[in-house]
Amino acid sequence: MSLLHKLAFLVILLFPASWVLAEFQRGENGMVSSRSDIASEVGKDILAQGGNAIDAAVAVGFALAVTYPSAGNIGGGGFMVFRTAEGEVYTQDAREKAPLAASRDMFLDSNGEFDRQLSRNSLQATGVPGSVAGLLDALERFGTMSRAEVIAPAIKLAEEGFQLNADLANQFQNNLSTFQQYPASLQKFSNKGQAYVNGDLWQQPELAATLKLISANGRDGFYKGPVADNLVASMQANGGLITHEDLANYEPVWREPIHGNYRGYDVWSMPAPSSGGILLVQMLNMLEPYDLNELGWGSTETVHLMIEAQRRAYADRAEHLGDPDFYNVPTAMLTSKEYAQQRFSDFNPDAASSSEDIGAGSWPQESMQTTHYSIIDAKGNSVAVTTTLNASYGNKFVVPGAGFLLNNEMDDFSSKPNTANGFGLIGGVANEIQPSKRMLSSMTPTIITYEDKIFLVTGSPGGSTIINTVLQVVVNAIDHRMNIEDAVTSPRFHHQWQPDIVRYEVGAMTDQVVDELNSMGHKGLSRSRFSLGDANSIMLIENTLEGVSDPRNEGGVAGF
Ligand code: DON
Repeated sequence: MSLLHKLAFLVILLFPASWVLAEFQRGENGMVSSRSDIASEVGKDILAQGGNAIDAAVAVGFALAVTYPSAGNIGGGGFMVFRTAEGEVYTQDAREKAPLAASRDMFLDSNGEFDRQLSRNSLQATGVPGSVAGLLDALERFGTMSRAEVIAPAIKLAEEGFQLNADLANQFQNNLSTFQQYPASLQKFSNKGQAYVNGDLWQQPELAATLKLISANGRDGFYKGPVADNLVASMQANGGLITHEDLANYEPVWREPIHGNYRGYDVWSMPAPSSGGILLVQMLNMLEPYDLNELGWGSTETVHLMIEAQRRAYADRAEHLGDPDFYNVPTAMLTSKEYAQQRFSDFNPDAASSSEDIGAGSWPQESMQTTHYSIIDAKGNSVAVTTTLNASYGNKFVVPGAGFLLNNEMDDFSSKPNTANGFGLIGGVANEIQPSKRMLSSMTPTIITYEDKIFLVTGSPGGSTIINTVLQVVVNAIDHRMNIEDAVTSPRFHHQWQPDIVRYEVGAMTDQVVDELNSMGHKGLSRSRFSLGDANSIMLIENTLEGVSDPRNEGGVAGF
């Protein structure tokens, strides 16, 4: 570890902000790292019973819907990267889809202005949920245990309840006034209208009933029958668009993984409709010609190089990326070494380039509320899953009688050209709204191998910042040869082309580096109000699994 890096750690130790201690574990037989210690234990128990990584991933997915409701979900969507012990890699897209009744200009008012409220805080903001279909499909295809076995822990947690920790109790308290808008939301997240407090028992009987229907009837327990009836009734009563036909038609898609190679390591990640894998590989390709280890972690040269890679990749995101079923995404071009070389040929080591002055981007005001979990089993199967409701608690609407939150993922579409969404991201035709189309994502569940052996399983929440968080974990691990704890804990920075500003966590760069970057022409360098990402990750080092739950937030790693 360089002196600079040690200093950065010292800063974190002295000024921990809201960070909690990194949870770190070693094990030989299996490891689960997630945002919820209870959910990680659920996954570990499944592995200990002889289940494989997919069995555990499905159990953790359902458990997170109970124990981490701001992002764990059955009313949202997500992505999964799965690598078998034999080395085959599969990626599953369980992203939400626009309802059939959606249309390009549905979030524009009569003056053609983008209506942010409608696109984020309404039932029209909800995409057709994909999580249940995705998890069950993964289980059927690659699991070894029964649906009932892997959903049972989630049912038990919802039915019998669990003790709220301060993290969850505070979240519920902080959102109480928002939940008051909707009776079923208030009922679920408050104690008869009063705020829950740390240590209270929290039970979710309606969610338990929904999970039982899924356990008994499979996807039909969610996409048809009483749960679907309740969801559609909510839509009809509140101006939402999702119909029985939308629900019945929803299918997850297994897609060709994004594959890159970085300094001899193989990078496997999520293809479109996520931008994550493409941008990750594109940025790594741009950085590969430079010896980042030699230049040093946190040095002006390294940070400058990375910002410039980020700027170019995110600009391409806005132009070229959308749902590949609707738009011809130039994946091969964007992930090729030749393209990266050409795209980075105007890099100036002494000066910042300027993002074109278009689009009034704004910075995300939401805290981090997607969630990522990583799993490796005893045989060496590995799974990376990132799942979300989009904003924290989605659109905050709990479906009466069914007990789960709805997503507000429609805001991830580009509703109006060059107009920022909730993450300050802009886009155009590639990501415009069309019926049944999937909205572009930044989620980047990623598996890295070296000489056909697992090296790293990682991913993160954080909206537009996700890809840069994953990039920094990967560069820390590969270039700076950090162990998993340091790779995840080290402070991070973020640039996304538009708005043309750089945000960084305390310790990500020294004052001197900030001054030098300023004088090179980098704009808007400032400390981020929020921590960047929550990269619950696992590394395999000499046949030992090392897992960490990101200290930026609560969470747990469970290994054995
Ligand atoms: O799919 C996406 O890129 C976003 N809906 C993810 C949202 C997210 O990470 C929320 N956390 N800040």
